[in-house]
Amino acid sequence: MKVLITGSGGREHALAWAVSRSPVVERVYVAPGNGGTEEVGTNVAISSEQPEALAAFCLEEGIELVVLGTDGSVAAGVGDAMRANGIPCFGPNRAAGQIETSKAFSKQLMADAGIPTAPFGVFTDHRQARAFADRFEGRVAVKADGLALGKGVLICHNPQDAGKAIDRCLREGAFGDAGRTIVVEQLLTGRELSVFGITDGVRVLPFAAARDYKRALDADEGPNTGGMGAYSPPIDADDALIWEAVERVLTPAVRALADRGMRYRGVLYAGMMLTDEGMMTLEFNARFGDPEAQAIFPRFRGDLVPLLLAAANGDLLGQLPPAFDPRPAVAVVVTSGGYPERYATGFLVDGVDDVPENVIIFHAGTRREATGLVTAGGRVVTVVAMDEDVAGARRSALEAAGRVAFSRAFHRTDIAKEAEEAAHA
Ligand code: AMP
Ligand code: GLY
Repeated sequence: MKVLITGSGGREHALAWAVSRSPVVERVYVAPGNGGTEEVGTNVAISSEQPEALAAFCLEEGIELVVLGTDGSVAAGVGDAMRANGIPCFGPNRAAGQIETSKAFSKQLMADAGIPTAPFGVFTDHRQARAFADRFEGRVAVKADGLALGKGVLICHNPQDAGKAIDRCLREGAFGDAGRTIVVEQLLTGRELSVFGITDGVRVLPFAAARDYKRALDADEGPNTGGMGAYSPPIDADDALIWEAVERVLTPAVRALADRGMRYRGVLYAGMMLTDEGMMTLEFNARFGDPEAQAIFPRFRGDLVPLLLAAANGDLLGQLPPAFDPRPAVAVVVTSGGYPERYATGFLVDGVDDVPENVIIFHAGTRREATGLVTAGGRVVTVVAMDEDVAGARRSALEAAGRVAFSRAFHRTDIAKEAEEAAHA
């Protein structure tokens, strides 16, 4: 079988790697891919956000399964174009993808389906938004409705902050059209967790959980990023907790979408907060997490392709819940110095080819040139290590990340440290 994956990040390299290990797969294509996806498949020079060109390529090549890697593909309607051409696609149509692209849609769906989430209001009027924030003494999150490159969430601790955040969105237009409508919700405290479910639009199978590290620097300092590392399984996410999320969060969301005539086929990612009052849902995403996928796929046991295909075909009945290696995986992202703000690219990359047997390197911002492998983005590679215990996995991941060499390479050193400390306690 021929499979196409859309995107060019570490997540897509991990997907291509996992798919290429399937005995039923003859060839893997990645559009547009990166310097690493070429090692497990064939890069195709089409943007991940061009539905018509991608569908034409799939028809020409006889692609039998498309996997949407990025939210950009979902939002551009790549799923719609594939299904219109009869090509099985793992990843939702644009309408169902609103669960990620519109925070107002997503919160309303949660409320309608009784999914645990913070109390909220949806506003276009700044006075009403302020009155709502005052009910929580300004301890709120102010969220631009639309996609704002991960920058559209403003955390506030008092009425002054809340007033400023609301004004930035509704009066100053800081997020453009994405922020003309806002969600204001109560601030929650607790530990965050990423939970993934595979769904055919009716049934949901749990697909492991991971903890993601979003801040640029150790000890969760510095600006928010796309993700600096992850590990799986997280210390506080046992099977019972994951099944609880499937039953109380993922399945009701899929059913509520179906009730609206939006059948969701693909992976549904719930960003959760574990609070003293139980689990709360912060957001949904319509794709795997990056770098969570890099920490999860090496733990996956079995053949990924029949599972993705069954979901794409709307028929998960008869598929067993996926099995995972109990050993932990630690994923450390090596970035270009300066990321997530300004950084330079085009530097030669060394130290990614000869790695120990328990280490895998997934590429993101890399490109092959005549001179060799060079940096081409902010997040350059994700180094993943598995071991019997989290201390061993951390040690291997950090050693290998330290050997990835290019000008101004940077990585966090505290990914999964909490799990190592919990094991010693
Ligand atoms: P979102 O895009 O909605 O997941 O928000 C991005 C980040 O903002 C989350 O990963 C949390 O760290 C934080 N956040 C969002 N909503 C809340 C909330 N209600 N309380 C506390 N933190 C939040
Ligand atoms: N790691 C967070 C995300 O993929 O959205």
